[in-house]
Amino acid sequence: MTDNLTARVSAALQQITNPRTGEDLVSSEQVADIAVTLDGKVRLELRLAAADDATLARTVRQAVERVAGVTDVRVEVKDAVQVAVTGSTPSARAPKSLPVMSQPGAPAQPSAPQPVAFPHLGRIIAVSSGKGGVGKSTVTVNLAVALARQGKRVGILDSDVYGPNLPIMLGVNAPPAVENERIIPLEAHGVKVISLGFLIERDQPAIWRGPIVMKIVTQFLRDVAWGQLDYLFVDMPPGTGDAQLSLVQAATIAGAVIVTTPQEVAVGDALRGAKMFERVGVPVLGIVENMSWFESPETGKPMAIFGSGGGQRLADELGVPLLGQVPLYPPVGEGGDSGRPIVIADPECGAAKSLVAVAERLTTN
Ligand SMILES: Nc1ncnc2c1ncn2[C@@H]1O[C@H](COP(=O)(O)OP(=O)(O)O)[C@@H](O)[C@H]1O
Ligand SMILES: [Mg+2]
Repeated sequence: MTDNLTARVSAALQQITNPRTGEDLVSSEQVADIAVTLDGKVRLELRLAAADDATLARTVRQAVERVAGVTDVRVEVKDAVQVAVTGSTPSARAPKSLPVMSQPGAPAQPSAPQPVAFPHLGRIIAVSSGKGGVGKSTVTVNLAVALARQGKRVGILDSDVYGPNLPIMLGVNAPPAVENERIIPLEAHGVKVISLGFLIERDQPAIWRGPIVMKIVTQFLRDVAWGQLDYLFVDMPPGTGDAQLSLVQAATIAGAVIVTTPQEVAVGDALRGAKMFERVGVPVLGIVENMSWFESPETGKPMAIFGSGGGQRLADELGVPLLGQVPLYPPVGEGGDSGRPIVIADPECGAAKSLVAVAERLTTN
């Protein structure tokens, strides 16, 4: 039964030609380790070279999804060069050792981490931006709190190792407790939160290569006592580097939300970020344009300062919705500093209403 299914999956993959090599993916051994379960779940590895077409991962996933009998597909994207050179992901040691993070005597992490479905985490939504300072964490926190206020069970995983400021925005800056080898998330405004910032030394950026981030993100997904969630927001590090790829390889991500400002340069970075998600088969759910215009707390009058229309252009280019535009409104920043997100501090202001509307769009799409 599964043998037949494996053969059908393999046949489907043989139909896909890589334009770069002119060969099909099976003959060129770009797909490997096809595993099929009795109930039709398929998992396979796709080895992509830098020059490969960015959309191959999605093509593969869609082709396998169409095979009769397949109920679920996981495509694990690996770097073809790395596979060829080392045969595995380089390993390195974790920086600090919470009990859960290094288990002496335990077998080494498998070198090829499999994307895993974590049903208790609900929909995992990555919040990403091309560069820092565009309001990614602010948006993440407010979306999460807005959903919690609607009665949803919500968590945030702050995986931004370069600027982990999410605990401050939620007003919970303390190391998490560990009980029975499980990390207990902090909780604020009905949202559970865990941050890589709790575990890292700020002066150790060099060790934050992909494999380490990968390992810790995976452990945070698995070993944090999240309970049952409806939504887990992941505040991603800015850019399109290893950490982003690590996360999408570690777990089944429902989709990504891209935060940008209206400025052209931020939009260009955001476009590259969005393409990275597409390349590994993660759908971009939409764009949030932040700091769209300046809104004076005194007069309430809008004032364009950064140019306009960048978020819409990006959304159009990607063929995804513009989920909302959030004004630059000083109380939003003040709310972040004081641990009271704007959707709670002043739910009636334009910025809060816009953020709540984005949260609603995310749940209904
Ligand atoms: N809409 C907004 N209005 C006013 N200040 C904002 C707004 N969005 C973000 N900020 C402020 O801008 C700074 C950067 O935001 P942050 O969310 O930390 O960005 P990122 O996570 O992308 O680096 C913070 O000081 C934050 O309070
Ligand atoms: Mg941030």
